[in-house]
Amino acid sequence: MIKVLLFAGARPNFMKIAPIFWEMSQQGSGFTPYIVHTGQHYDRNMSGRFFDDLELPAPHFSFNVGSGSHAAQTAAIMVKTEELCQTVKPDWIIVVGDVNSTLGAALAATKLHIPVAHVEAGLRSRDRHMPEEINRLATDAISDLLLTPSRDANENLHAEGVPKGNIAFVGNVMIDSLVKVLPQLENIPHPTQAPYFIATIHRPKNVDSRNQLGKICALLEEISNSIQLVFPLHPRTKASLQKFDLLTKLENNTNIHLHGPQPYKTFIAWLQGASAVVTDSGGIQEETTFLGVPCLTLRESTERPVTITEGTNQLVQFDNLIEKIQELSKQGPKNGQIPELWDGKAGIRIINAIKKHHAYI
Ligand code: UD1
Repeated sequence: MIKVLLFAGARPNFMKIAPIFWEMSQQGSGFTPYIVHTGQHYDRNMSGRFFDDLELPAPHFSFNVGSGSHAAQTAAIMVKTEELCQTVKPDWIIVVGDVNSTLGAALAATKLHIPVAHVEAGLRSRDRHMPEEINRLATDAISDLLLTPSRDANENLHAEGVPKGNIAFVGNVMIDSLVKVLPQLENIPHPTQAPYFIATIHRPKNVDSRNQLGKICALLEEISNSIQLVFPLHPRTKASLQKFDLLTKLENNTNIHLHGPQPYKTFIAWLQGASAVVTDSGGIQEETTFLGVPCLTLRESTERPVTITEGTNQLVQFDNLIEKIQELSKQGPKNGQIPELWDGKAGIRIINAIKKHHAYI
């Protein structure tokens, strides 16, 4: 049996580890998987409820590192990963995505010569001001097996000189979770009976300065003049809205529906019913592409270009967001297509790729 530690820490990780855990838990899989939760996210709505919705067991190991600066959080995860690996002696660790937990765990394990598989490898925004871009570059540079969600990711890795044998194109594992929950959403009510947009904004660049967040609030108010706007608030966003005295105005706007972070199934049900989404998230660009919902991404670049070339995503800026929304309502949504291997079967391809690679080491 191949003993694996499967690391997750922040909200977007949970739907990426779930399909791998389900596959590895099947009898005869050849794996013994253990879930490690770093505790980067800890509120029930950012973490525990995802385990319930994704039918995951409680984590086998919890680090409870909590919030902190990038260095403090990453370092705490490294120290705890080192201790755990020395005790459990896994054959492999698996890290997913691009959060601080991804890099911290990969860095500690690789120095103990434990093979690291990185799921969602090879994505590049080419914007080094994003902490996630640094996490992606550094994790890919030290991982043994790079499991990619799309062909552009393979090309990025080839261009960086990664040997072909260390890369496997497995598809988008997050879509496995989406495919699994889609039939379970019937009884989840939409946040409003009228047509609505969803907004999700949480990137430090957008919410940490009063100027940026003020501009975003003004744009959301403008959108809400023509359509209901559902705005689930990330804790970071809520804290900034309070700090900059921007919250009350949004609360008093009857066309804006403020909520806390939503559990996975509820959020997917809401996405499915939305006329469009305005976001700065990474994963939501992919989920909307799969669901065929128009997505306006308020960022200068994306590490997920396939959502633009094939899917329903487009990049927008402060000065053209309203214009792009008007275009959308005149022209109707783009007929996107679902990218290659976003088919709900990435989990099984991931475990097959690890088995194959394990045989060589
Ligand atoms: C992290 C990821 C980001 C991902 C996002 C999804 C990194 C560098 N960033 O950003 O890529 O898109 O998760 O949410 O890893 N907080 C709570 N409760 C929680 C967790 C956080 O209140 O359960 C608050 C704390 O005030 C904390 C702040 O949110 O300081 C930010 O949390 P943190 O994990 O540092 O980064 P995110 O912005 O969530």
